[in-house]
Amino acid sequence: MTISGKLRLGVNIDHVATVRNARGGDTPDPLRAARVAQDAGADGITAHLREDRRHISDADIEGLMDILTVPLNFEMAATEEMQQIALRHKPHAVCIVPEKREERTTEGGLEVAREENRLAHYIAPLRDAGCRVSIFIAADVRQIDAAHRIGAQVIELHSGAYCDAHHENRLDDRDRELNSLREMSTYAHSLGLEVHVGHGLTYETVKPVAAFPEVMELNIGHFLIGEAIFRGLQPAMAEMRRLMDEARAGNFA
Ligand code: PXP
Repeated sequence: MTISGKLRLGVNIDHVATVRNARGGDTPDPLRAARVAQDAGADGITAHLREDRRHISDADIEGLMDILTVPLNFEMAATEEMQQIALRHKPHAVCIVPEKREERTTEGGLEVAREENRLAHYIAPLRDAGCRVSIFIAADVRQIDAAHRIGAQVIELHSGAYCDAHHENRLDDRDRELNSLREMSTYAHSLGLEVHVGHGLTYETVKPVAAFPEVMELNIGHFLIGEAIFRGLQPAMAEMRRLMDEARAGNFA
């Protein structure tokens, strides 16, 4: 397996829908955000259809399937309902995430190791339908081995602990978390898994992760959508892209 030089930026548009749903109307429209992101060079669009539909709706997923020319990464919990929806739409990729109703965001990675048998059966029809199956997990050997055994093609490593430690100035924790992400990216790649990273990434935290040669894609949402309030989505993305490219080229200044 060769390591690609180009690091893909997946833009998560969930929080455009969060703002829309705060008022119950039609604006801001996540599909419009997806179009802007696509036109601005996003390599993919990510959207999480949660069981409680707190942000992205079923109609949003349908609309994204219609308008996108870049791949849709459809995030979902491993439930029967979500499997049916994914099989109906057949998005480019499905990313299986853990979901707890009371959480504010996806707080941890999926416990693949404990549910290996069920998940192997769960993802098989998705793979057969042509979706690339990604599993959102902590940077942990047990979870990576389990994701590999069940037949996932992709893992997305949860960068939340690294980002939280950085922003809370817990530097030893930050360095330890970053090290785990680095080692586990190398390990997962050695098994033949495609490696993505996501959650909590900002302009301050993106470069060290973008520099890992085995990482093929970063999925970034909350920070980019927030930054778009101040500078617009296209410039917010352009700055992220610039930092990713700089890190990839070995420039950490
Ligand atoms: N990747 C996955 C699997 C996620 O669940 C999320 C959050 O929905 C993200 C990436 C993006 O995280 P953030 O919104 O913190 O950038």
